[in-house]
Amino acid sequence: MCGIVGYIGESSASPILLDGLKKLEYRGYDSAGIAVFNGENVDICKTKGRIADLEKKLGDEGSLEGNIGIGHTRWATHGAPDDINAHPHKGGDGRITLVHNGIIENYIELKIMLEQKGYTFVSQTDTEVLAHLFDFFYNGDSLEAMSNVMKTVRGSYATAVLINDRPGEIIAARKDSPLIVGIGENENFLASDIPAVLKYTRDCYLLDDNQIAVLTKESIKLYDINKNEVHKDVYHVTWDVEAAEKGGFDHFMKKEIAEQPRTVRDTLSPRIKDSHVVIDELSLTDEEIKNIGTIHIVACGSAWHVGMAARYVIEKLAQIPCEVDLASEFRYRNPIVKPNDICIVISQSGETADTLAALREAKSKGARAVSIVNVVASTIARESDDVIYTMAGPEIAVATTKAFSAQLNVAYLLAIRFAKAKGLIGDEEERKLCEEMLRLPEIIEKLLEMDDYLKELAKKYVDSENVFFIGRGLDYAISLEGSLKLKEISYIHSEAYAAGELKHGTISLIEEGTPVFAVATQSDLLEKTLGNIKEVKARGARVVALVGENHTAADEFADDIIRVPEISDILMPSLTVVPLQIFAYYMALGRGCDVDKPRNLAKSVTVE
Ligand code: G6P
Repeated sequence: MCGIVGYIGESSASPILLDGLKKLEYRGYDSAGIAVFNGENVDICKTKGRIADLEKKLGDEGSLEGNIGIGHTRWATHGAPDDINAHPHKGGDGRITLVHNGIIENYIELKIMLEQKGYTFVSQTDTEVLAHLFDFFYNGDSLEAMSNVMKTVRGSYATAVLINDRPGEIIAARKDSPLIVGIGENENFLASDIPAVLKYTRDCYLLDDNQIAVLTKESIKLYDINKNEVHKDVYHVTWDVEAAEKGGFDHFMKKEIAEQPRTVRDTLSPRIKDSHVVIDELSLTDEEIKNIGTIHIVACGSAWHVGMAARYVIEKLAQIPCEVDLASEFRYRNPIVKPNDICIVISQSGETADTLAALREAKSKGARAVSIVNVVASTIARESDDVIYTMAGPEIAVATTKAFSAQLNVAYLLAIRFAKAKGLIGDEEERKLCEEMLRLPEIIEKLLEMDDYLKELAKKYVDSENVFFIGRGLDYAISLEGSLKLKEISYIHSEAYAAGELKHGTISLIEEGTPVFAVATQSDLLEKTLGNIKEVKARGARVVALVGENHTAADEFADDIIRVPEISDILMPSLTVVPLQIFAYYMALGRGCDVDKPRNLAKSVTVE
């Protein structure tokens, strides 16, 4: 996830671009750059670091003069966050200058093709492919070139391009990454998000996928991918800047919940090719996978819950023994780790002190460290042997949602990869799982439509003092997460129990009206969980059953039911977590809590 801005008009472009980038910094902040037309050529200034670093560099080196420009703030996916990989990038002999937000999935094959045509690459980014490809197709007609580029690349993008021989124009396009055009008078704007232009205009065009915008200072023309002109309604912004940074959502948490379809898609699609799991970042060979002794999974908080789910899936599919540890426990319990073991480290921030220490502990004992991390080039990422990045983009709400979903899906990918290497699943089963996983984004999209239902449900339970979550197997892992989400943001006491364990003590806490969420989606465990539902019901609990849509067995015992679409049992956690996140959100709202910044918590815990 990155941020793009563009300006074309009569004012000096640099300050407007910098100002816009500052508004988009939440989208990524590991490097930044701007490019400005100086009349003949396009000058670029870019640097590793934040917008403030870019501003300083411009101050030191002299700001770029001109009235047309594009800018970018980066959240690295391909290539480390450094000066060279920072955008803008040049294409051809320098006549093209381009910024890009998204991921070009077929960049390797395009790079090979372009290299064969004589193009030279200087960065490790997928974006440079886009710049050269644009040059390759450009023969004086920018619309034609953009249309051809869009028909050639696979993946997601919002992109803006300056062309040396078209000094009065910016051409831009989008697919699966946001892009808006701000409408001014004798000036026009481009941005990934509305706040970047709100200071200058409240009238925008919100581009749809596969649309192209051609901006001059006097005009904005919109086209479809086949170069047919399209006409869109002007969107008039009525909200203020602060709300807009949340994309119109009241809270970052809500926005991030809603971003999960895209997050899951971005995490999975580059790693599922022709119905096969291909994890380029994983350097383990089939032989090495076959020789793994034990997998040690270490993490904290929600990431540890992903670890709990990962254990079930890896043991089930790949039959490799897994141990899941809280990183803070692992580091001090002198764990038995052998050189043929691997350590899977899960962390959104990549900076959690205990998780980092656990990684070092496992490595010091000879285990190979494979990390699942969201923040590129974070310490855990840098110290791991292999790092598989989740493509969640910056997560701002303290309570994680979209990073959790992305981590879960990387765990599925690893389990399938391991099982395949060991010959425990064949092509057919792999194909079925891959196809189902690729459907997850669209199913999660549907789940988001349950918002009103969950809002009402929260109203019913908002005054609860204790809430319990029960489930078995993968449902237990999601119970843990559902319970943590609820307690961390609503401050309601909540506990999650393996459903079979409840009767060994905790059931004494169930009294008339105590809400118990029963997650019951695993077919082989359904009857057992049903038994536990009856146990709590008999003691007066108010049961909320979270079940697959075809399961009716819990209906007669449940006071409320949340139904999620059916998919393979092992993928169910990707779905069941979503209503629990939304429920927790509305419970916290209903109790007047600071949803995005719960008391006493921090997004990244860099102390023990
Ligand atoms: C903090 C956050 C949690 C997160 C945990 C681990 O406690 O509030 O949401 O799950 O740290 O963070 P990490 O960045 O390592 O995933």
